[in-house]
Amino acid sequence: MRSLVLLLLSVCASSAAEVTPPRAAELENMVLQDCGSCHGLMRKGGLGPDIRAKTLADYEPQGLASIIKNGIDGTPMPPWGPLLSDADINWIAEYLLKETTE
Ligand code: HEC
Repeated sequence: MRSLVLLLLSVCASSAAEVTPPRAAELENMVLQDCGSCHGLMRKGGLGPDIRAKTLADYEPQGLASIIKNGIDGTPMPPWGPLLSDADINWIAEYLLKETTE
């Protein structure tokens, strides 16, 4: 019983603090589908600009995370903070910087 409680606690703690592999797969799909609808499937740009890793290379992960969380006022770039946790958003920022599309 005690170990069950500990297990549940650790599951809750990890979902708040970090992205699990199944969640990472969902987020990867979201970057493709949702971000891709404006930034292109290959992230080369469309309505939104090119956001390939090499284009974003000068960004710190926190800077990107804040753009993703808050959007860019006065442009079609929407804020994702209402839909995603900070852990999700940080994961996407790291993903954009490390995952190349070519
Ligand atoms: C409805 C269209 C739309 C969607 C969906 C969208 N974006 Fe954007 N995004 C834009 C536009 C337009 C800009 C450029 C805004 C400007 O003029 O500065 C932008 C800008 C950005 C930038 C800044 C790029 C730079 O060079 O400074 C990043 C990073 C970004 N988007 C990431 C994302 C991510 C990650 C997602 C998915 C979670 C996403 N966007 C979804 C339209 C969109």
